[in-house]
Amino acid sequence: MLGNFSYSNPTKLYFGQNALQYLGEELSRYGKNVMLVYGGGSIKKNGIYDKVAAVLKRSGKVIIEDAGVMPNPTVDKLYEGCKRAREGQVDLILAVGGGSVCDYAKAVSVSAYCDEDPWDKYYLRMEDVSNRIIPVGCVLTMVGTGSEMNGGAVITNHKTKQKIGHVFGDNVFPKFSILNPIFTYTLPKYQMTAGFFDIMSHILEQYFSGSDDNTSDYIAEGLLKSLIHSSRIAVKDPENYEARSNIMWIATWALNTLIAKGKTTDWMVHMIGQSVGAYTDATHGMTLSAVSMAYYRHIMPYGLHKFVRYAVNVWDVSPDGKTDENIAREGLGRMEAYMKELGLEMHLSGLGVTEDMLDGIAKGSIIMDGGYKVPSQDEIVQILRESM
Ligand code: NZQ
Ligand code: ZN
Repeated sequence: MLGNFSYSNPTKLYFGQNALQYLGEELSRYGKNVMLVYGGGSIKKNGIYDKVAAVLKRSGKVIIEDAGVMPNPTVDKLYEGCKRAREGQVDLILAVGGGSVCDYAKAVSVSAYCDEDPWDKYYLRMEDVSNRIIPVGCVLTMVGTGSEMNGGAVITNHKTKQKIGHVFGDNVFPKFSILNPIFTYTLPKYQMTAGFFDIMSHILEQYFSGSDDNTSDYIAEGLLKSLIHSSRIAVKDPENYEARSNIMWIATWALNTLIAKGKTTDWMVHMIGQSVGAYTDATHGMTLSAVSMAYYRHIMPYGLHKFVRYAVNVWDVSPDGKTDENIAREGLGRMEAYMKELGLEMHLSGLGVTEDMLDGIAKGSIIMDGGYKVPSQDEIVQILRESM
């Protein structure tokens, strides 16, 4: 049952090869001080920085630079960004980068004028925002997280070994996002495929939950089929515009709240993956791929009907003459073969996880209760061990 809900997504998207031409128009809606946030320098090498800086200058903006946002942005970087945003009396934060840069921009936007420690308020106590929010705009250069059209902002605290996401409300979603698939061509293969699996994982976290006869499940299956098709083309031919543009669009719809409607949503693969990230600082999508097969094989008996549907509708498994369990297993087998074809990380040991970390990673995994089986701490240790 879909239940009762209201639906709106306030982010305005500009999509396609000419998307950046709308940046000037968007900038005209905000004051003159723009904090330009970016990562470790990929945008300087591939020319995106120059293109964006030229529009900012033409628009008469004062640019306050905030560079060096690391993959899996840290709480220390967040404190630094807040100070810079306040000192620069920033009117708009423009994030140019991947999910880390977009997430960080959102975290700074709600934290710069927060009277308390934002880590305590938003990440440990999960409280709502009660102070001024600086608007955020994005120019996306890496596809996967959906951060360009959602309220998520994941921050890592290396001291306490915690990686936690806060999903903020509509008022924190980017005001606009510019999505040019060509900007993603320079991604190294490892990052590109990690992003592909991040998308798949977002869809599965929502699909494998709640009641079954639901429009969201049909949308999810369509997104999955399109993703599988286009990603197979993109790994062989990374500059295939049709494949890369489809994937960019799928990523946005995979996590912009639409397909969560009517679903309880699981998110345990992400909770375990984030804890792995807190211990290893590994690439987000690869932390998910390394634990997914063990996780889904573990919960399969508790949601067998859905794993059968997944095998038949998404992986084209023929159900004829087979038991439900065999159909479901065959579907997961095809998923595993696809993941290997993409070259994803299938083992935690490949991400630097060692046996002595497993208990700590399990303890750091926030337990969610929307999936087919609420895992115990011991079950998470078992899943982690099977993922080594
Ligand atoms: O830092 P630079 O130099 O820009 O390099 C980045 C980074 O090293 C590079 N890159 C990005 N665009 C590029 C490029 N290299 C060449 N050409 C380009 N066009 O790619 C590397 C990874 O970037 P990052 O932004 O870290 O990746 P991603 O987009 O996967 O973001 C990961 C972060 O998002 C969080 C993750 O936990 C992680 O912290 N997530 C956010 C979510 C949300 N907001 O809803 C949901 C996700 O599940 C996820 O948790
Ligand atoms: Zn993710």
